[in-house]
Amino acid sequence: MFDWTDNYSVGVQSIDSQHKEILLILNRLLEALKQGKANDVVNQIIHDLEQYAYMHFQKEEFFFQRFNYSGSAEHIHEHQQFREKIKVLKSDLISGKVSFTVDLMFFLKEWVEHHILVIDKSYSDCFRQNGLR
Ligand SMILES: [Fe+2]
Repeated sequence: MFDWTDNYSVGVQSIDSQHKEILLILNRLLEALKQGKANDVVNQIIHDLEQYAYMHFQKEEFFFQRFNYSGSAEHIHEHQQFREKIKVLKSDLISGKVSFTVDLMFFLKEWVEHHILVIDKSYSDCFRQNGLR
């Protein structure tokens, strides 16, 4: 299981809860993979991940603009790359071009971990200075 720890906190409660939700979605995938049922549920879960990540990125990007965050362009670029990757993955899974594997699971896990621990944490001071908690 991918467990949320305080180490993941960006110091803003509503964003932390969304990050927890993303980890829960990844855990659903991991569980299905472990039980050998990934192919039955992967399309739905990737769809859920895409929808949720989209909404979550929009929220972060809204604050970047509102607070004139200096790391905005770079951060939005990372989001954009993830959106593209998930879009391609989703259509490759639907068409049967790829099947869901441990490698893909770890790609998602690594991306999310790096993104939260390094990229998202960089906006922590800015968001807090602007009053978010
Ligand atoms: Fe982000």
